[in-house]
Amino acid sequence: MKKISFLSVMILTIFTLILSACGTSKENTEEGKNGSGDESKKTIRVVTDAAYAPFEYMDKDKIVGFDADFIKAVAKEAGYQMELVHVGWDPIFVEIEGKLADVAISSITINDERKQSYDFSLPYFLSTNKILVPKGSDIKSAEDLKDKVVAVQNGTTGQEVVEALLGKNNKNIKKFENNNLAILELTSGGADAVVADNGVVEAYAANNPDQKLEVLTDSGTFSAEFYGLMFPKGSELKADFDKAIKKVFEDGTYTKIYKEWFGQEPDLETIQAEQEKQ
Ligand code: ARG
Repeated sequence: MKKISFLSVMILTIFTLILSACGTSKENTEEGKNGSGDESKKTIRVVTDAAYAPFEYMDKDKIVGFDADFIKAVAKEAGYQMELVHVGWDPIFVEIEGKLADVAISSITINDERKQSYDFSLPYFLSTNKILVPKGSDIKSAEDLKDKVVAVQNGTTGQEVVEALLGKNNKNIKKFENNNLAILELTSGGADAVVADNGVVEAYAANNPDQKLEVLTDSGTFSAEFYGLMFPKGSELKADFDKAIKKVFEDGTYTKIYKEWFGQEPDLETIQAEQEKQ
């Protein structure tokens, strides 16, 4: 009797030990899941129009640029694997609306019209439209564009601001599928100016000194714009990505990437003030 009860105590002890060991290992697994997050989340499809240097452009067969580095940092922070794919500007909107892609990053300005059809992340970049002209052009301000031929990328805020000046159906507005083609129209003499985001026209003028171009600022006419990541309406990714955006702003990652591409400090105060408004 004594023997049996000793044996049953032993069995019980071993059983308890095994059970508690199981418990521990289960806890560990869950901790691991929460920690990295990678295995539990799918690879997301991120679409872009990689013809907008220095934000997104092709370097041989690789998509590089400020946006490319930024989305990589943000996706990593949020715990997502991603593939970044060049689809072109108009297809971005088709893919996001049809939920064929999970996220778009392409220097996309957040505005009320787009907000009706898409969701946006917190703003991550401060931008404005500027005017690219040949050096010595008689165009000195936005007002001077009114009787000129202006090239823009179709479906951008550049098109919008030029339409506001010249009239919506003005034939002097030449619209192109991508911004490189708009610039080519200017440099080949088919247009007097290009209107596009400052980061793009400034980089183009600086990197192509032989083409003798200059950039005009008209902050009275062209207002500040903020870029956001674009999601299908109701996307569950927005919360994770907003959190990750805040983190990369706070931990210095954003500033590091910004300096790498623009060689100067970002205006964190203005962007973060805009983030607070959301
Ligand atoms: N920021 C402007 C807009 O949202 C132009 C963006 C164009 N981006 C591009 N990758 N082509 O309309």
